[in-house]
Amino acid sequence: MSESTSTDSTRASEIRPRPETASVIIFGASGDLTARKLMPALFDLWNDGYLSDQAPIIGVARREKTDESFRQEIFEAMKGQFRDGVISPDQWERFSRRLFYRQLDIAMPDGYPGFKQQLESIEHQQGTGHNRIVYMATSPDLFLPAIEHLGFANMIPDHDEPQWLRVVFEKPFGHDLQSSRELSDNLRRLLREDQIYRIDHYLGKETVQNILLFRFGNSIFEPLLNRNHVDHVQITVAESQGLERGRGGYYDHSGAMRDVLQNHVLQLLCLIAMEPPALFNSNDLHEEKLKVLKTLSGGNPGGIANWVVSGQYGAGTVDGNPAISYVSEDRIPQDSRTDTYVAMKVKINNWRWEGVPFYLRTGKRMKSRVSEIAIQFKLPPLNLFNTVECDGNMCELVGARPNKLVFRIQPSESIKLSFSTKRPGMQYQIHPVTMDFDYKTFTQPLPEAYERLLLEVLRGDSTLFMRSDELDAAWQFVTPILDFWSQSETVPEPYPSGSWGPVAADDLLRNDGRSWRSPTV
Ligand code: BG6
Repeated sequence: MSESTSTDSTRASEIRPRPETASVIIFGASGDLTARKLMPALFDLWNDGYLSDQAPIIGVARREKTDESFRQEIFEAMKGQFRDGVISPDQWERFSRRLFYRQLDIAMPDGYPGFKQQLESIEHQQGTGHNRIVYMATSPDLFLPAIEHLGFANMIPDHDEPQWLRVVFEKPFGHDLQSSRELSDNLRRLLREDQIYRIDHYLGKETVQNILLFRFGNSIFEPLLNRNHVDHVQITVAESQGLERGRGGYYDHSGAMRDVLQNHVLQLLCLIAMEPPALFNSNDLHEEKLKVLKTLSGGNPGGIANWVVSGQYGAGTVDGNPAISYVSEDRIPQDSRTDTYVAMKVKINNWRWEGVPFYLRTGKRMKSRVSEIAIQFKLPPLNLFNTVECDGNMCELVGARPNKLVFRIQPSESIKLSFSTKRPGMQYQIHPVTMDFDYKTFTQPLPEAYERLLLEVLRGDSTLFMRSDELDAAWQFVTPILDFWSQSETVPEPYPSGSWGPVAADDLLRNDGRSWRSPTV
């Protein structure tokens, strides 16, 4: 499918105001996230003209480093990760000039007054004001102390001051409902909600944003997205990789439910299921997403075990390579009961979706890396046509296949609609075809999620971030499941690395006369 009009030259900067200049301060700058995601995103923002030439980027962490060694370290880590794949020495020279490093024990208050002075001197030297973004790329136990210390050092401006401070919090934001509420309450004493940006990087992905435009910018699909036409919906966030280096400590306390389902998967669910907002603004969008989360419940009667399945990967083969089991990974105890996979059947108790099951799944070490939302429509009421389909020597007469609308989020972004046509010939034989919209038809490179989200913070727009009541509602849904697992000492069902998950997850759908998709990549 090709575009009907060229949008290549339409850049966001031409239709939305350019962001103000601000210092970007990364707490926890020695971590993986800074080198892998944040710095490439900041580089691309600068390269695209969204980040001013003056804006300093200050890495803050406990280790001793000089500005020069920090720049060198970032360069080494970033090589090959730039969106366009190449960076000239001149570009790097011009970009890296604004990189600074400040050694600080983030947990201790003593260093903050000195840090403030250093920061002001950098801002003076760069000729910028004191607008600041603080990106909390630290472990979550440092969130509150860091903000308290910023407050004591007089680094949190009031509403009526000309300069602003916006703080971005990486997930996990809380470990369960109670800890997330405590964190929110404590932060609220120090920061206003409009200063808090809780990041969920899925909301920065291009196809994820396109879901809203596709649904509410077209008139032909939206009337079909309800209980009258939709049979069921499947949301998959599958990864083929296992634990990344150094993540074992975090992940074993988190698991797939907290790490991905509570945030990325539920956000996808909200976007595909929400009602149209009255206006396309942050508040209205958050309100509609919140309504979805509040009406969410288990998809089968009876206890949680009837609609939730947890799994843990064993050894296996992924992409032709041998893969070790979860409990053999670095820093994972042999008797770990952490879920590396979770699947569930849920329902949304509202007028639109009554009776439509939503099947959600996410896991590590699965067959392929693929994230998608697949909407399966009901079959036509009468099966007037059929065709002969053969698999080897086995042939059977099959009728129409259900129409499917699939939003592929990764690895290659696309939207596909499958429907039936007539097979050419003298008989009325049915033939399934797919209509594709592939993002490759746009020639401009897609912005990375972090690039988009950092730009929104610079602009002061929190539409693509989690509001505190949304987060609360997501935890309210997920926490009883976590409590049930821990009280019942649930042992996740093993599944081989490189498979599509445990057998019990297949049964969840088989019992409904359905099956999971095996997405091809
Ligand atoms: C992160 C999780 O939020 O999302 C990781 O902490 C996971 O465990 C990652 O690998 C998946 O993101 P993406 O963009 O690669 O699908």
